Amino acid sequence: MKLWSGRFEQEVDKAADSFNSSLSFDKRLYRCDILGSKAHCTMLGECGIIPEDESKKIVTALDGILADIENGKCVMENAEDIHSFVENELVSRIGSVGKKLHTGRSRNDQVALDIRLYLRDAADNVIAAIKELICTLVKIAESNLDTVMPAFTHMQKAQPTTLAHHLAAYAEMFCRDVDRFADAYRRINVMPLGSGACTSTPYPIDRNRVAELLGFPAITSNSMDAVSDRDFVLDFLYATAVTMMHISRLSEEIIVWSSDEYKYIELSDGYSTGSSIMPQKKNPDMNELMRGKTGRAYGNLMNLLTVMKGIPLAYDKDMQEDKECVFDSYDTLKACLTVLNGLLKTAVFNKSRMRESTDGGFTSATECADYLASRGVPFRDAHSIIGKLVVYCIKNGKTLQNLSLAEYREFGDFDEDIYDVIKAENAVERRKAAGAPSHKRMIEELEGIKKRISK
Ligand code: ARG
Repeated sequence: MKLWSGRFEQEVDKAADSFNSSLSFDKRLYRCDILGSKAHCTMLGECGIIPEDESKKIVTALDGILADIENGKCVMENAEDIHSFVENELVSRIGSVGKKLHTGRSRNDQVALDIRLYLRDAADNVIAAIKELICTLVKIAESNLDTVMPAFTHMQKAQPTTLAHHLAAYAEMFCRDVDRFADAYRRINVMPLGSGACTSTPYPIDRNRVAELLGFPAITSNSMDAVSDRDFVLDFLYATAVTMMHISRLSEEIIVWSSDEYKYIELSDGYSTGSSIMPQKKNPDMNELMRGKTGRAYGNLMNLLTVMKGIPLAYDKDMQEDKECVFDSYDTLKACLTVLNGLLKTAVFNKSRMRESTDGGFTSATECADYLASRGVPFRDAHSIIGKLVVYCIKNGKTLQNLSLAEYREFGDFDEDIYDVIKAENAVERRKAAGAPSHKRMIEELEGIKKRISK
């Protein structure tokens, strides 16, 4: 039965009916819908808008529907949307008393409430999962404070750093993601019910009571805005898109690092796949999928931004399109976070390979320039001298490590201590500024991250 059939004389066209229906996807909101209806109905009873005994009867029946959906006795089908389904089911269970539930309410404020309730849980779950990932990164970093590796810029070897420093950079990104979801949560956490279809309702409702029952700290201030606002959904989709971008960047590095050319990381068998033709292959499919699925998260954000851009006040049906964006982004992000966390926990980092790779590519050239600068050569001149020294090394097949002191001295005022200065470990340890990779600074940073995520 349609909730609006009274005004119609003919049946709705079959194709139009299925085009209009959202039950196939918005049934995921059943718990939120029932929770919201219970709060609304309790308030109706308390305010004397419907008799209190009837309100109680409805609430009990709603609990029954919820239980039966969860134990599989009640199958969600044959309705326009989840709101219609629950109401139809209610009426079929308790008769016309059930028809009082929708007093002073519209599906427009109802769906706004449902999606806010859904996103509160979703944001909580995502924040918890990102924090777990950060913990994993911090743990790996803590056991690699002195694992030297090259830092890259332009994907060219740049300067020595540590694996701890590199992974903590990702932990920082994910900390900002937690912050973004927490910020989105603040705007999600506002109660819209009581806005009605668009101009609220003349019934003497108590909106603050509904907010209290549902644990919302605030109610929306304008009923027109409340039924047509999906900014908070966009906030969630944006936070998801940025987190996916970070996951994708880390995945890209893992893919490169697990190649035979790098061999910085070996993924466990549990998180790798093979080839149907090439027996030797062990592929980083998980990370490729994460990189690939980032497109969905961006797409969902662009999708809803585009849906919303032409919507005149107040509610328009276009907004029904918000739900699949939310569910898809949420599912995608949750799956990526779970798999990435497990993958990192079981991966093995090849420390000796990273160490060996650090000395190639002249990563200590900046140290040599700083060395001359410390002896009075203006840095710009020192830079140019070391540039020439690097060309000399390349032409003669030498490294900064195996160049003789006599050769160094052809270029400037070098002493025996240059060999100590260019050691990657020492280069890292000399970097003591806040944010730098020295042992002490890294411990500080990692402690700071742990403190931030314990809040
Ligand atoms: N399924 C609808 C949605 O998700 C519920 C609201 C319907 N409101 C209406 N006036 N037709 O937006």
